[in-house]
Amino acid sequence: MAMVCLSDFEAYAKKYLPKIAWDFFAAGADDCSTRDENILAYKRICFRPRMLRDVSMMDIRTKLLGNEISFPVGIAPTGFHQLAWPDGEKSTARAAKAMNTCYIASTYSTCTLEEISAAAPGALRWFQLYIHRNRTVSQQLVQRAEASGFQGLVLTADLPYTGKRRDDVRNGFCLPPHMKLKNLEGAFEVCKMSPLDPSVTWNDIYWLQSLTHLPIIIKGILTKEDAELAVRHGVQGIIVSNHGGRQLDGGPATIDALVEVVEAVQGRVEVYLDGGIRKGSDVLKALALGARCVFIGRPALWGLAYK
Ligand code: FNR
Repeated sequence: MAMVCLSDFEAYAKKYLPKIAWDFFAAGADDCSTRDENILAYKRICFRPRMLRDVSMMDIRTKLLGNEISFPVGIAPTGFHQLAWPDGEKSTARAAKAMNTCYIASTYSTCTLEEISAAAPGALRWFQLYIHRNRTVSQQLVQRAEASGFQGLVLTADLPYTGKRRDDVRNGFCLPPHMKLKNLEGAFEVCKMSPLDPSVTWNDIYWLQSLTHLPIIIKGILTKEDAELAVRHGVQGIIVSNHGGRQLDGGPATIDALVEVVEAVQGRVEVYLDGGIRKGSDVLKALALGARCVFIGRPALWGLAYK
C-alpha cells in the first residue's frame, strides 16, 4: 500500500511493533489530554489564504543558529530507537543527514553519541541533555557531545520526574536486556531509569555554560515568564514543548503556547516548537505564528519502524 501521510506510518507502526514498544511511543501522561490537545489545537486554527502571489518558485530552506537546513522540520529527541529498528539512532542520524535537517539525539539513546556522529559525519545534530544527580555524568556527556561534533546542547526542562504513563506502568515497561542506554553505561543500573536531578534551576544554565562553548537551547518552555527567564540566562534558543504530552497533563497545546513565547522573546533568541505536528499545514501554522522551525517526535519513530 502506498504510504501517503504520517498517519499511514502511524498505522503501520501500530500494526507491526510489539505492543509494549508501541505503547511506550504513544504514551501520554495521565489521561493524555495534553497529548491529544497538541493535535486538536491545529484543527481549530484556520488559514486566511491569499491568492495570486506567484508561487512558481518555492524555497523552504531555513537556518538554525546559522546552520542551513533544507526545510523547517527537524527530529525531536526521543529515547530508545532500537525499539523501532535494530540500528536505532544511527539510522535516524543517517535519515536526517539524507534530508539535510537537524537531529536532536537523546541522552536516552540506545547508541552512543560517538556512534551517532560516526553514522552521519558532518550532519547538523544537537545533543539533548537531562541533568543527573551525579553531575559528573552530565558533565562528561556534555563534553563528549562537544568533542564528537554536536553543534548544540538542548536542555530538557520539563522532566524533573517522569510523568505517569499508564500503559507503561501496566506493561511494566523496561528496556529489553539486549538494549542499553549506551550513553550512560556504567553510570547506573539502566533498567531502573536514571536518577535525574529534580533540584535543577535556572542557575544551572550558568553551570552548563561553564562546561561548554556549544549554544544552549532550552526545551519545554510554555509561558512568557519562562521565555523571558530563558533569554535573561543567555540561552540561544527555546523549544516550545510539552514533551508530547508525556509529562504534565493539563497544560496547553504547544501551538497555543507559542504566541506568548514569541511575543516575550521579541526576536532575541530563536523559537522552535514540537508536539502534534502531523502534516505540512501544521508546520505552516507554527511558522506563521512565529516558530523558526518545528520538530517531530513520534512520527520519526513510526518512520524508523517502517520496512
Ligand atoms: C520523547 N520526548 C523526549 N524529549 C526529550 O527531551 N528527551 C527524550 O529522551 C525524549 N524521549 C521521548 C520518547 C518518546 C517515545 C516520545 C514520544 C517523546 C519528547 C519529544 O522530544 C517531543 O517533545 C515530542 O515527542 C513531540 O511531540 P510529537 O511530535 O511526538 O507529537
